[in-house]
Amino acid sequence: MEAIEEKKQIIPMPRIGDDAPKFKAVTTQGDINFPDDYAGKWVILFSHPADFTPVCTSEFITFAHLEDKFEKTNCKLVGLSIDGLYSHIAWLRTIKDKIEFNGMKNIEVKFPLIEDITMKVAKKYGMIQPGESKTQAVRAVFFIDPIGKIRAIIYYPLSLGRNFNEIYRALIAMQTADRFSVATPADWNPGDDVIIPPAGSCGVAEERMSLSDELECKDWFFCTKKLDKDKILEAILNK
Ligand code: BEZ
Repeated sequence: MEAIEEKKQIIPMPRIGDDAPKFKAVTTQGDINFPDDYAGKWVILFSHPADFTPVCTSEFITFAHLEDKFEKTNCKLVGLSIDGLYSHIAWLRTIKDKIEFNGMKNIEVKFPLIEDITMKVAKKYGMIQPGESKTQAVRAVFFIDPIGKIRAIIYYPLSLGRNFNEIYRALIAMQTADRFSVATPADWNPGDDVIIPPAGSCGVAEERMSLSDELECKDWFFCTKKLDKDKILEAILNK
């Protein structure tokens, strides 16, 4: 008998700075061609382990509740799990009709939820992490920018529900960094001082320390400046 060799296909995990892997998929809002359909917009592509599970249900209610807030920052949400379309539809209907979480109820999930029963998309995005589960996607969050580049990735294990304030904060921080050419320190939120990226030459370091009224430099490599919250929101939020 001929030995049957199992074909091991190693798919590299996408990384920050990579182009978002392309795919076509069926979703609860119709077919999508990703990321091309989202050109010019930020997208948060996220996976959850399974429909009809409690942590995922709490996350969907929370994300759907915040959808308008993300929309105002030019950001679309796209979910995915290794379930079929009819399971997705039934689960989203149940969420709307029956489930209340943290005071949120009658929540309609209007963003697309990808069916990925073949794991085609989940594998492309490194959402299957066999040490955690071979059959369910981990809780992955991919931030994809308007030109289709992956800008940030967060992974959580199955048992841990995500912090959606942090997901929103990360999105706003990246948009602020792009718009104002700054970086953001630990625990930054709009209205807090921002960081001036490190000086790249001795001349700039000297200039930073001696010149600027606008900057507050603790040392040549640690300079901050004020950036008004309203100025950020004015630049970022859709009117
Ligand atoms: C949940 O969403 O509740 C869940 C899913 C998979 C494993 C553990 C919890």
